[in-house]
Amino acid sequence: MKFFIDTANMNEITEAHSWGIVSGVTTNPSLVAKENISFHDRLKEITELVEGSVSAEVISLEAEGMIEEGTRLAQIAPNITVKVPMTPDGLKATAAFAKKGIKTNVTLIFNANQALMAARAGASYVSPFLGRLDDIGHDGMQLINTIADIFAIHGIDTEIIAASIRHPQHVTQAALNGAHIATCPIKVLKQLFNHPLTDSGIEAFLNDWNKQK
Ligand code: E4P
Repeated sequence: MKFFIDTANMNEITEAHSWGIVSGVTTNPSLVAKENISFHDRLKEITELVEGSVSAEVISLEAEGMIEEGTRLAQIAPNITVKVPMTPDGLKATAAFAKKGIKTNVTLIFNANQALMAARAGASYVSPFLGRLDDIGHDGMQLINTIADIFAIHGIDTEIIAASIRHPQHVTQAALNGAHIATCPIKVLKQLFNHPLTDSGIEAFLNDWNKQK
């Protein structure tokens, strides 16, 4: 499983990228709105730093508008992935992008049939939202598992992005349940480093080193 970072904040992307683990970036309109920046300029900046997929979400709700917006976004850099919502218009746009060779990430996936339809429309990625399902008392991880099984049974190569990740256990379980990618906020990526025995081990090694004569 690969790691993407889920943010539009350049400092966060630069920091996580420096650790050598970031294979891509996902953004969404809420994350971009927090930054108070030109979306176009920020996408340019991100794609200059990160080689892998950078998801940029369209705002239009009609297929025609999505295609127009997404085509413009895709011109920013070859590694832009156009993010579209899971609606009939979203899938219509996904199919059109697939014909043009533009990568897509179908977002706001909350059940397996949505993921299967998105894949069949030609999506490069599907994004099931784990945390938001858990928030309403459903089992987000079970959804990742089911989608991974369906894609394996039918030889579908659309990649599963485990999204709406809230904590490190989501990351481990997403990897075990067949997600190809986990897109994580910086807070969760930082938490992944932590273990008290790592900290006490470093301290003990340094203490012993400093006791040398
Ligand atoms: C994924 O692409 C989304 O941007 C994101 O993971 C949503 O997460 P949230 O439920 O924490 O807003």
